[in-house]
Amino acid sequence: MASSPVTVRDADGVRTITIDRPERLNALDRQTLEALDAAFAAASADTAVRVVVLTGAGPKAFVAGADIAEMNQLGPIEAREFSLLGQRLMRRIERMPKPVIAAVNGYALGGGLELAMACHLRIAADSARLGQPEINLGLVPGFGGTQRLLRLCGRAAALELCLLGKPIDAARALQLGLVNRVVPAAELESEVATLAGSLATAAPLALRAVLDAVVVGGECAIEEGLQFETAQFALLFATEDMREGTSAFLGKRTPQFRNR
Ligand code: HXC
Repeated sequence: MASSPVTVRDADGVRTITIDRPERLNALDRQTLEALDAAFAAASADTAVRVVVLTGAGPKAFVAGADIAEMNQLGPIEAREFSLLGQRLMRRIERMPKPVIAAVNGYALGGGLELAMACHLRIAADSARLGQPEINLGLVPGFGGTQRLLRLCGRAAALELCLLGKPIDAARALQLGLVNRVVPAAELESEVATLAGSLATAAPLALRAVLDAVVVGGECAIEEGLQFETAQFALLFATEDMREGTSAFLGKRTPQFRNR
């Protein structure tokens, strides 16, 4: 049996999902999209997993895009299915009930940038290059890139990246708000581990409320979003972790959150 294009590792509440096709710069074919979907479904369901880190194997790429060799063989009906398969995965990631960090360790192009944009935080190596080069293939982004880039960085940046198809470096990505932080490539793993570690000990139900409020709230009118925020805020007063967090502050000690 062929080995899985996705590997999974656990440490202290942090699940690291690695796309493992380095010989293809981790390009996303259907098998990889399906394996990723299964990996995220499992991470979502496992209460021991507090944070997910997504990265690419090898020194060169996070993901260099959808698999061009596979796409070359598709007709329009299959292409539609392919787009929907990717969009479902990206939506699953975006709506995960726990934080997902993309460790962008190199090229994040096309479907690779779309994948990174579906994550909640993006930490990039200074060597990373990011872009939507589909136009050079006579294509457009099809895993949600036009929509997420527009929402993350605004129309000017979305049109620049998608019309020109020219990758940008990590510093420019930071300037556009496309990534949260840029770190030296050699420090990416440890920086992401530190960040993931702090999220892994934070109050899980409150993290989930933030994700719900920002992701869902960002997709509706402000009145609806504000009501949603209040509902999330009030609900947390029914949790033990909220009592623990506030009591720990008052008692000048470190809180121990238990996901309840
Ligand atoms: C399939 C890919 C690939 C991809 C790289 N490879 N990207 N195979 N799909 N997206 C393969 C190469 O063919 C090559 O295989 C091997 O990986 C190493 O890549 P090289 O090109 O030799 O590496 P390098 O010269 O360092 O160039 C790196 C690169 C270049 C600049 C990232 O590989 C590149 O431009 N890749 C395509 C980027 C792209 O256009 N992405 C968007 C795809 S469209 P061999 O067999 O020669 O060793 C997309 C649509 C999403 O993502 C939406 C779908 C619905």
